[in-house]
Amino acid sequence: MPPETFKAPTGTHDVLPPESARWQALEAVFADIVTPAGYGQLRTPLFEDAAVFHRVGEATEIVRKEMYDFEDKGGRRVALRPEGTASVVRAFVQHHPAVPWKVWYSAPMFRYERPQAGRYRQHQQFGLEALGSDDPDLDVEVISLQASFYRALGLQRVLLVLNSLGDANCKPAYLETLGAYLEEHRNELCDEHRQRAAENPLRVLDCKRKACLEATRNAPRTVDHLCGPCKDHFERVQSGLGALNIVFAIDSRLVRGLDYYTRTTFEFQASALEGAQNAVGGGGRYNGLVESLGGPATPGIGFGSGVERVLLACDAEGVFPAPGTDVEVFVVDVAGGEAARDLTATLRAAGIASDRAFDGRSMKSQMKAADRSGARIALLVGEDEIATGSVTVRHLRGDVEQETVPRGEIVERVRSLVDD
Ligand code: HAM
Repeated sequence: MPPETFKAPTGTHDVLPPESARWQALEAVFADIVTPAGYGQLRTPLFEDAAVFHRVGEATEIVRKEMYDFEDKGGRRVALRPEGTASVVRAFVQHHPAVPWKVWYSAPMFRYERPQAGRYRQHQQFGLEALGSDDPDLDVEVISLQASFYRALGLQRVLLVLNSLGDANCKPAYLETLGAYLEEHRNELCDEHRQRAAENPLRVLDCKRKACLEATRNAPRTVDHLCGPCKDHFERVQSGLGALNIVFAIDSRLVRGLDYYTRTTFEFQASALEGAQNAVGGGGRYNGLVESLGGPATPGIGFGSGVERVLLACDAEGVFPAPGTDVEVFVVDVAGGEAARDLTATLRAAGIASDRAFDGRSMKSQMKAADRSGARIALLVGEDEIATGSVTVRHLRGDVEQETVPRGEIVERVRSLVDD
């Protein structure tokens, strides 16, 4: 019997080359946008004390139902992080850096969800968080950096949706008003929310089932129940976005999937993606979160953006393709392989990307490999070249004549050709 073979776990996937080069390029675009704006990279562990996540989202599906949590060999309850914000805030409370603390991350997140296109059990998120200021201009900065990221990729069909959920002052009263409305319309809600509306009334506004959509058509809207300071904050965020020519739509149903949001919430939705999975990224303010993890009262705001969904949206719009190969030169050696070994080493040391074939293949097979590699130049070495101490330079693109170059001058010659 052949040995059993394995596949990546359900809801996860391998990223192979050349697609992996696209992931690297995507991260470079993100870093190039956020680093010059003063955000430094933060790397936190893949797992945390499970209580970190319970503290920030006890009533959310992500924490209640979807966490990869388990007991480690020392009997500690740990969880693979389902999202990045809680870990960032935990690190902030632990290290008490100076504020404003502006950090970004690129990290895998784990949620035990029902896998489908754009929804995975392990997904990769780029995100950033800014802690220490409640200035509406910081909301504008965070949102505009996210918009710049999508713009830099060439995405055009991405809509920014905006809402405000109020703060500790006005949110509780709004939740009560909403709760009373939902109680009145309880029999019209979907099966799940008929039972659970009281627990987390905001979730009902997010429910995509027809019954809930209809029952909440005239539900009280957050934006109509903001206190003075929240209203003012929300207006200043809107006028700031307007000043930067960032187009947005207000959607009072945008409550988001995590509990910790106060004031501004937002999402970028790709019209090219399927309904429930159309958010390429989202975020908002969380002014009470640092306190709930035991730190001093510190406002914060940030966003997360899913790499897989961003790339699906890029595919749908035909933008941001995988970058071409990095190999410039392919060494074809039919004289035993030593020349290929030495030339690739010399070229690479000189910073010229080069590759070769192995196993003493025929000229034809090596030329095929050279072609597949994407290199522009093949360096041919046979018995003649060995005898005369030279290398034949053949151009693989365009119809430039091949030339013979003394071995000692090859790096210089190749450099002048690739720099062309
Ligand atoms: P989130 O909306 O849960 O927010 O996730 C952010 C983004 O991650 C989503 O918009 C989506 O692009 C992607 N995403 C989420 N779940 C999956 C999944 N199962 N498969 C594929 N992609 C997924 C947060 O996680 C917050 N921490 C964002 C934030 C940062 N808020 C404030 N700061």
